[in-house]
Amino acid sequence: PKTMIEPFRIKSVEPIRMTTRAERERLLEDAKLNVFKLRAEDVILDFLTDSGTGAMSAKQWGAIMEGDESYAGARSFFRLQSVLQKLTGYPHIIPTHQGRAAERIFFGVATKRGDIVPNNTHFDTTRANLEFDGVEAADLVIPEGTQPRTIHPFKGNIDLGKVEDLLKTKGDRVPFGMLTITNNSGGGQPVSMANIRAYSELLKRYGKPLILDVCRFAENAMFIKLREEGMQDRTIESIAQEMFRLADGCTMSAKKDGMVNIGGFIALKDETWVEAARNNLILTEGFPTYGGLAGRDLEALAVGLEEVLHEDYLRYRLRTAEYMGEKLLAGGVAIVEPTGGHAVYIDAKEFLPHLGPQDYPAWSLANALYLEGGIRGVEIGSVMFGRRDDDGVEHYGPMELVRLAFPRRVYTQSHFDFAAEVICELKAKAHLVRGVRIAKQTKYLRHFTAEMNWA
Ligand code: F0G
Repeated sequence: PKTMIEPFRIKSVEPIRMTTRAERERLLEDAKLNVFKLRAEDVILDFLTDSGTGAMSAKQWGAIMEGDESYAGARSFFRLQSVLQKLTGYPHIIPTHQGRAAERIFFGVATKRGDIVPNNTHFDTTRANLEFDGVEAADLVIPEGTQPRTIHPFKGNIDLGKVEDLLKTKGDRVPFGMLTITNNSGGGQPVSMANIRAYSELLKRYGKPLILDVCRFAENAMFIKLREEGMQDRTIESIAQEMFRLADGCTMSAKKDGMVNIGGFIALKDETWVEAARNNLILTEGFPTYGGLAGRDLEALAVGLEEVLHEDYLRYRLRTAEYMGEKLLAGGVAIVEPTGGHAVYIDAKEFLPHLGPQDYPAWSLANALYLEGGIRGVEIGSVMFGRRDDDGVEHYGPMELVRLAFPRRVYTQSHFDFAAEVICELKAKAHLVRGVRIAKQTKYLRHFTAEMNWA
């Protein structure tokens, strides 16, 4: 048989509320043509993000009851700590409530104004937290990483030549190097073990540590197993362990490959930043053995970090995005290729060739997907990355994409079949999709709250 089945069965379900097109037209009008303003109950398939939206296993729910809610020294912390020490090899584990808290605290103690931090591509919150501290965030992904149609097995790799140039010319301003695995902003694309190793060695020659952003480390490890020479017989755990061992520390939003709805952490190999980070943690997140989380959250995470290493799960996980990608390509829909681990990115410029940049094609497409089938994706285009100057001049973003990100263990194959049918049917009448105009916006992060009119 060719069908890859979901490697789980379902014990607890949530109803999906069906809506009609007429209802969705009214709901989207009420939401000012902004899908962020919709109520989640009015969405049929919610592909807004894979962050914190996954389903926990029976084992995780069981562990929740075991949570030790003591303020200090809770057993749940030591359980999580030992799982993370085994996985990462780093002795120092600092829990936080989610990824951006880990970033804020770590950058706060490890960078200073005027520094430069290289990365393949900094995720929005990583960049924002660095810039908030007056640090420059340098995106140095390989050229293939920014070309939607170029096929490359590891489009998330960092460009080592560019890193070396930076270290040679401005090395005194580089406190450490970062690497985001998988590279979310570049389409959820993986980084090879060879690239992590070479980057680590290069940084070492200049005396700089390597810090990983490991939100989707298990998906990355699976790509390495499937695509990298000599890795086929390794376990996911041993590949993941090697990735961590090549670096000196990491930050993680556990809302992704931690398989939990909330959580994050900083993990570090040596003591340099640990005390300062813990002091900062106490100031804003909580005591070092819970860091903004409940004991039960630490338990669920300890179990999730073991479950995410299961190969059957990861095979199915990567196949989901690949399967959606195949269906869309077969229907003539242009996407970022090859598909990454957690999402499919539709090229809205190609989908809606009759629209110009002033029509915000990716935003229009996100609206059309909701109207057509109750599907919610997110615009990664000119509303998100463009801006309007004080004198009213509009600057457009480099790409017009709609990201469909897939919650973990939540939707089944028929949900994906339905989504692909909706998108391919919409493609056939794409010329009817209207552009939008921005009626009201804020200066920063305007996509979350913007109000729109039809063009
Ligand atoms: N780093 C990466 C690579 C991420 O994708 C995210 C979140 C974060 C850090 C921040 O973590 O949300 O727990 O504070 N990405 C989500 C997304 C929001 O939809 O891609 P957080």
